[in-house]
Amino acid sequence: MNVQAYAVRDEQRPPDNLLLQVIQRGLRSQPKRLPSWLFYDEQGSALFEQICEQPEYYLTRAEIALLGAHAGEIAKVLGPDVRLVEYGSGHAIKTRLLLEHLATPVAWVPIELSSAPLRLSMQRMEQHFPELPIQPLTVDFTRSLRLPVSPRVPRRTVVYFPGSTIGNFDDREAAQLLRKMRGEMGDNGGILIGVDLKKDKAIIEAAYNDRAGVTAQFTLNMLARLNRELGCNFELGGFCHRAHYNAMAGRIETHILSRHEQRVCVGRLQVLFREDEAMLVEYSYKYSLEDFAALAATAGLVVQHVWFDPDQMFSLQYLARAN
Ligand code: AVI
Repeated sequence: MNVQAYAVRDEQRPPDNLLLQVIQRGLRSQPKRLPSWLFYDEQGSALFEQICEQPEYYLTRAEIALLGAHAGEIAKVLGPDVRLVEYGSGHAIKTRLLLEHLATPVAWVPIELSSAPLRLSMQRMEQHFPELPIQPLTVDFTRSLRLPVSPRVPRRTVVYFPGSTIGNFDDREAAQLLRKMRGEMGDNGGILIGVDLKKDKAIIEAAYNDRAGVTAQFTLNMLARLNRELGCNFELGGFCHRAHYNAMAGRIETHILSRHEQRVCVGRLQVLFREDEAMLVEYSYKYSLEDFAALAATAGLVVQHVWFDPDQMFSLQYLARAN
């Protein structure tokens, strides 16, 4: 594997004092909220992989089916000698399906906040593409990036952002992130982005309330993480997961609910939870094609191609600079 080891830095989490401040601020606000990045420690990332395998969570299967059906065509649109910059180190199958069809890719640059999932996806990729230069970055992809120098000059840089993770940002943040990608891809570049589509409320809500309770565990792992890392005393049985589709806003809203009145120590702060009090932990936006084109336009981008899975649940969209 051609890994540039200098690029792997462990910036998995903010330092303790900062983490505590961020959490205390969120728990003082009304309504209370916790940042979504807290989901993804090692256990949370493993739980997320399990979510992707749940029968109700259609997003991953649909995106894989989409790539199975259209990867050849997508690769033609991207063209040869692409540098593929991936936000999130990716579900190996999706990236593999794409890379299998790309003609002479220059490098794969996976970007991940924590090093464990990054290492895992690099190992998986290495088995399939031993010749492919891999230039990992262990950083927060929402921050400004310094991309590594490519082993040869790419014809085009494509930022690949699968999974509809864009839906975890509100419109203002999503536009900001797209604008940042626009800068990174350069004049001739593009963005290949997974976008989950608006559909029947029952299908969407089931995806975030799987029967096996894996999503509930994933959500409550946030509290377990705060206990582990900050010595908080959240009693996990005293809280539960709730995910509800707000059709007006076009988004799943995930909350942690307090089952009864209770006090929790977060550092020196004593936080009072009322019975049924909800703490916001995540939004997952769903889009119509018009919604997403309008969002892209606010970032100076135009949608050039859209592909769908055979059941039309999910889309992969190719964006370029608007003139
Ligand atoms: C990562 N992201 C696209 C997932 C989603 O569908 O919003 C995170 C997730 N949260 C609960 N289930 C999955």
